[in-house]
Amino acid sequence: MMDRKAVAVLISGRGSNLRALVEAADQLDFPARIALVLSNNPTAEGLDYAQAKGITTAVIPSKGRTREDFDAEVNETLRTHGIELVCLAGFMRILTEGFVQTWTGRMINIHPSLLPAFKGVKVHEQVVASGVRFTGCSVHFVTPGMDEGPIIIQAVVPVPIDATPETVAAAVLEQEHRIYPTALRWLAEGRLSIEGQVVRVKDATAASGVMISPSV
Ligand code: GAR
Repeated sequence: MMDRKAVAVLISGRGSNLRALVEAADQLDFPARIALVLSNNPTAEGLDYAQAKGITTAVIPSKGRTREDFDAEVNETLRTHGIELVCLAGFMRILTEGFVQTWTGRMINIHPSLLPAFKGVKVHEQVVASGVRFTGCSVHFVTPGMDEGPIIIQAVVPVPIDATPETVAAAVLEQEHRIYPTALRWLAEGRLSIEGQVVRVKDATAASGVMISPSV
């Protein structure tokens, strides 16, 4: 039996990326297992999904607490559960620099744009209003600057002229569900190295697939 890395997925809401990660980790050859789902929002839908799948869940409400206090409890919970890697999946809370440093190189995030364009929130509204012809999604290492860490993988999605934030969100989400499990696989396999802002993927095939880079 391969040694599968223990992963915590941090969520705040729907949890469709969580679902994509869990489904990938259900495959026998996947190098990681989802050991914990942690939410700052007690009513996050993703918690119900995790519980139905028999995955350990933790709720740490963030409302009305300092970031330091909240992050300390999250960190303690991750430690208690023997977590090795962290995936932020629709986790809508900014983490303190100290917490981010603790998990440097072991924590990744998915963002629904082609970073470094369109950081922050209301991303698809920004995209449609800007008139860009392409958008997409990115999985990146988490660093103290929001949505600024080294990019591991991206997928591109066209923005038709009649697009709305809702249609763009749906098209992008479909690609999110493809690239997030791939990024986690590479991380858990120890194939990622960071050189400045550039992530190298050991033994990744050349970028022949134009819509996902590196191609998979
Ligand atoms: C996803 O589109 C994710 O990229 C985005 O929130 C959504 C969560 O959906 N994350 C961010 O905007 C982070 N700044 P999900 O709960 O169904 O995975």
